Amino acid sequence: VPRATTPALAHLAAALHTLDEQGLLRRRPEPWTGARPTFCSNDYLGLASAGRAANRRDREVESGAGASRLVAGERSAHAELETAIARWLGSEGALAFTSGYAANVGLIGALVSPSDLIVSDALNHASIVDGCRLAKAEVCVVPHLDQKAVEQALSRPRRGRAWVVTETYFSMDGDQPDLARLRAACDEHGAGLLVDEAHALGVLGPAGRGLCAQTGVAPDAMTGTLGKAFGHQGAFVAGSEALMEWLWNRARSFVFSTGLSPLVADGARSALEEAARNPTLRERCLANAERLREGLRASGHAWALRGSGPIVPLIVGAPERAVRMATFAQEHGIHVQAIRPPTVPVGTSRLRVTVTARHTSEDIAAAVTVLGDALLRFT
Ligand SMILES: Cc1ncc(COP(=O)(O)O)c(C=O)c1O
Repeated sequence: VPRATTPALAHLAAALHTLDEQGLLRRRPEPWTGARPTFCSNDYLGLASAGRAANRRDREVESGAGASRLVAGERSAHAELETAIARWLGSEGALAFTSGYAANVGLIGALVSPSDLIVSDALNHASIVDGCRLAKAEVCVVPHLDQKAVEQALSRPRRGRAWVVTETYFSMDGDQPDLARLRAACDEHGAGLLVDEAHALGVLGPAGRGLCAQTGVAPDAMTGTLGKAFGHQGAFVAGSEALMEWLWNRARSFVFSTGLSPLVADGARSALEEAARNPTLRERCLANAERLREGLRASGHAWALRGSGPIVPLIVGAPERAVRMATFAQEHGIHVQAIRPPTVPVGTSRLRVTVTARHTSEDIAAAVTVLGDALLRFT
């Protein structure tokens, strides 16, 4: 049994108190039991909450891989999932990881050498940031969506290879880089382009195949997750066969970790196939997003809105204000969470509102009213 308070951990109480004073302490939330679906998940197609497991067990699938896939954890569910992903995206291959976090740290750590340069958008997800740290390369963090800064960084003399890494649909801002220009800059300077399509796949682009597909851009590697639009857990890297083989050998978060649960892999494959086949869910999600944005614009709140698509950030500045607004919204039946530093830059605390295919037009209308009220009351 771990000891309660020890001298080694005594400093934590003071550190937690400081976080609380700064409005930055995260408390474990109560599970949401409100009548309306939450407005802060990444379950864009409503597949996570659709109660799928009950109706699709036509064969026995093991719950656990029991070992790393390199040792004894390999199951047919893994290959079936990876084949389905590669076929859907049109890539040579795909490799399943246990989370998007593991996929990004595994990919970047395996691909980038200490003598390389990584050009990374300032708002890239923590898993990309940590991948860059693990790679021990020189990292040039460029201002968000600043194409000129990317080009400048790439044109400086360097010892090794160069890599540009970016999200395609930014998780906290709902905005997008110009992928075609990034690809062109990479080609001009002999750099690789690594994209994270975590929030785009399943929802945005042709047949939900993401923003690279939409813009006709071929990245050198793509990360996607199974825990957002595909409603399960886990993730993948898609790319060439050689890359897959390299990751199988060198991605430490893959090699030294129990393989993705075969049960989850199997469920995620069927969710992905359904999402690819059936446009209704993503159309409903995108129509809901447009309705929410339109409603907030019409009631005079365009100033707080950012981006486009199903991630609808309402930027309100101070963390305490975002927390008060989230509490007010929850008390009025709309489940949103305040997003504060260090997740987002200081001064840009926000409500990150997300819509899904499960929201009804009444849910969206209620959100417009409650969020509009919260913006009026607290800003
Ligand atoms: C852009 C991005 N990449 C990766 C991840 C991590 O994915 P996962 O939740 O599957 O670990 C997230 C999760 O929030 C994300 O927003």
